[in-house]
Amino acid sequence: MTKKLNALASGILPFHEPGLDKALQEVIAQGNIQFASQHDQRTTEADLHFICVGTPQRAGSEAADTTYVFSAAKELAKWISKDAVVAGKSTVPVGTALALQQQMSKVAGFEVNLAWNPEFLREGTALEDSLNPDRIVIGTWNEHSAQVLRDVYKSITDTGTPFLELDVPTAELVKVSANAFLATKISFINAMAEIAEVSGADAVALAKAIGYDERIGNKFLRTGIGFGGGCLPKDIRGFMARAEELGVGSAVEFLKDVDAINLRRRDRVVELAKAELGDIANKKVTMLGISFKPDSDDLRDSPALEISQRLVALGARVVVHDPVALDALKTRDASLETEADVFEALRDADLVILGTEWRDYKELDPKQVADVVKVKTVIDGRNVLDVAKWQAAGFKVLALGRNIVNG
Ligand code: UGA
Repeated sequence: MTKKLNALASGILPFHEPGLDKALQEVIAQGNIQFASQHDQRTTEADLHFICVGTPQRAGSEAADTTYVFSAAKELAKWISKDAVVAGKSTVPVGTALALQQQMSKVAGFEVNLAWNPEFLREGTALEDSLNPDRIVIGTWNEHSAQVLRDVYKSITDTGTPFLELDVPTAELVKVSANAFLATKISFINAMAEIAEVSGADAVALAKAIGYDERIGNKFLRTGIGFGGGCLPKDIRGFMARAEELGVGSAVEFLKDVDAINLRRRDRVVELAKAELGDIANKKVTMLGISFKPDSDDLRDSPALEISQRLVALGARVVVHDPVALDALKTRDASLETEADVFEALRDADLVILGTEWRDYKELDPKQVADVVKVKTVIDGRNVLDVAKWQAAGFKVLALGRNIVNG
């Protein structure tokens, strides 16, 4: 077995999610989970298979790389039984399932029961989202596949969770369009932040005010350094690439702006930092939080990571603190210094930037921070700090989308 599978078999997760390691250890102890790197008789005996492999952005292109899905499906097709159902969970360009079904059937020598069953899990709360989903979506080509999936999700749907039985292309599209909508919502409020910055308005108060309208809703309107991670950025790009292939690129061309607005927020922090630091060479910047979101150690397309790297390229010395992502950072980018003790990380800082809204940072006592930094300036990249409290401790507070008056 590979190193990763060996670790999993002994209850060690390859990523951080609160509570998930405990849940894994429980199912291992109960004998309800096994790990293998090769198919065997157990594959042939199974009634249902899930394909969950990743679809990252293709190198040198905006499109999704479906190679891993196709190779997993091809391998699986050599082993499955005729009645087995294969449920695809990977985020794929619309039309992929049909191509997969054809490829698998050719390899298996019979019509494979492929279904599409997208997941809507968020990193950090994936287990909770699996057990208590907002909805379950399936796309099937035959009643047998639908029945097997109805049965497997029965304990969840019995509690009233909506169960949507759709055609396969719609099921594939639900996932990418949901992610595109979420990304658009974040970029919408970040576009308002750009307007607020030049008009004296406050984008945080604005988000709260528009969010009371039930048709708009207050979720995913948190303004700041924007979205990152292994999903939203690459999914909107993959969606545009697929729409282009289908001859309807203009339908989702607006996602280019969604992407651009998002990336401009990173530029804004770099500009603010440059303005504060003046001669940037050898100035110490403390980055509080480096993962793309709290409760995760994922650094893929992390806004805080990109901002840190750009400040280092400009000559700054960036020292990163993060409650869980420092090990991941060390293997990824050695140019950034890491410090596991938050006050050591803050010591003698010329500028503090909050990059990820970990609870630890919201709970920091600004008076204690004031005692260790060299210059009392903080850029709140996530709009989570209590501005009045930080100002009372002597800090100049800069935030995205807000015109904070500092004394
Ligand atoms: C996202 C979706 O929320 C999931 O439904 C989906 O299943 C998943 O992608 C996927 O495709 O697998 P995730 O990437 O874990 O989940 O993270 P989100 O909670 O969506 O946050 C994404 C980014 O947006 C983070 O960097 C977060 O800080 C940022 N964000 C989120 C904002 O800047 N403002 C907000 O109001 C909300």
